[in-house]
Amino acid sequence: MDDSPGTSSPLLSSPAAELAVAVIGAGAMGSGIAQVAAQAGHPVHLVDSQPGAAEKALETMGATLDRLVGKGRLERADADATLARITPMTTGDMSTVPPSGLVVEAVVEHLDVKRQIFRQLEQTQSPAAVLATNTSSLPIDGITDEATTGHDAALHGGRSPHMATRGRVVGLHFFNPPPVMRLVEVVAGTHSDPRVVDDAAGLMRRWGKVPVRCTSTPGFIVNRVARPFYGEAQRMVQEGLVDPATVDLTLRRAGFRMGPMELTDLIGQDVNLAVGESVWHQTGEDPRYAPTDYQRGLVRERRLGRKTGHGVFRYDDSGTALDATPDEQLADRLVGGPVLTDPVARTVAMLVNEGVDLVARGEASAEDVDTAMKLGTNYPKGPFEWLAEIGAETVRAQLAELDRAYPGGRYRPSEAL
Ligand SMILES: NC(=O)c1ccc[n+]([C@@H]2O[C@H](COP(=O)([O-])OP(=O)(O)OC[C@H]3O[C@@H](n4cnc5c(N)ncnc54)[C@H](O)[C@@H]3O)[C@@H](O)[C@H]2O)c1
Repeated sequence: MDDSPGTSSPLLSSPAAELAVAVIGAGAMGSGIAQVAAQAGHPVHLVDSQPGAAEKALETMGATLDRLVGKGRLERADADATLARITPMTTGDMSTVPPSGLVVEAVVEHLDVKRQIFRQLEQTQSPAAVLATNTSSLPIDGITDEATTGHDAALHGGRSPHMATRGRVVGLHFFNPPPVMRLVEVVAGTHSDPRVVDDAAGLMRRWGKVPVRCTSTPGFIVNRVARPFYGEAQRMVQEGLVDPATVDLTLRRAGFRMGPMELTDLIGQDVNLAVGESVWHQTGEDPRYAPTDYQRGLVRERRLGRKTGHGVFRYDDSGTALDATPDEQLADRLVGGPVLTDPVARTVAMLVNEGVDLVARGEASAEDVDTAMKLGTNYPKGPFEWLAEIGAETVRAQLAELDRAYPGGRYRPSEAL
């Protein structure tokens, strides 16, 4: 007999046409998520507080779908049906959002704004509705109503009236752009009902996505495990061991689509630093995630990357790097040499260590970590695939050598290695 306190969710029990979806925030992510939901057959309300924002998002989406039709990659009827399923709406008042089986919040990354939205949704949507957030960095527990405390729960025999509400809150972390990127991290907060999490993952599969599951660990899977990809390269450049263009070359040769230097210039040094700072603070300033002086310096000098024409590299108007010539011979010498000066060995050892530690803490499965890193960041392999190839003993020895050279905890091997 199933005696779990969970509520069954409406996500999988009805055909797509009968499950209304509301997406709050019609920016880059919200409009993409609305498109994915509409393509899967759901009626969608796309809601934004800025007048005209949702309409503008629909116009842009229409132009994108037109291009796909023009290229023969989408039928005209499907494009038209997708657009017809989306109703734009302007409001900042969540009580006016029509009843929905699933609400996906994708507004600005501000805790107070998200809390306010969830508080209103919890009060106005049916108790069966699943409420999801697309946050990249905020803890799921922090977004649900802070009025729901353990004290409340104790008063109500272990289940506060809000418990059901908190159980239906999950993270659905899409990657940019949502219609193209297949990965979705399905994030369980401490109070998320396991059945709701299961159903959310099932729904993502119906939407053609590849869901991976994790707890609300800082950075979730991708943004946490990826930290050393940037950090190791920046440290090596900071120490004068290698120049930025050459470090990028070594990692491209190892199968990464882009090097960490050119990639952070593309993402924006400020955006990448903010994610790093967030993970660092949320882990109690664990030295593993300490941001580098190198990147902080870039941001201080407004060398933010392609968007400012100057980051690690300088860019012309077409976005081509002007000073990114690698030293091929140096790259040949470094890779396969001592770990301290081998950008690939240092980076991969640290990626493996992060993946192993995440799984050891029970935050995700090894399989999901590999899937997430390959689909979310385009890594050529997942950390556990590298581990199987390199062997735990070698990785441990590499980390021990790095730890001797740079004591302080950054390179401490996971106990599970
Ligand atoms: N951009 C990315 O690569 C990316 C990837 C994954 C997750 N995310 C997360 O997705 C969320 C949205 O990011 P984005 O890049 O789409 O942002 P964005 O700035 O492009 O869009 C946010 C939209 O939310 C609207 N908005 C703000 N407050 C609102 C409110 N109270 N009610 C209704 N609408 C409101 C804004 O008008 C804006 O149109 C953030 O939490 C972000 O961390 C972003």
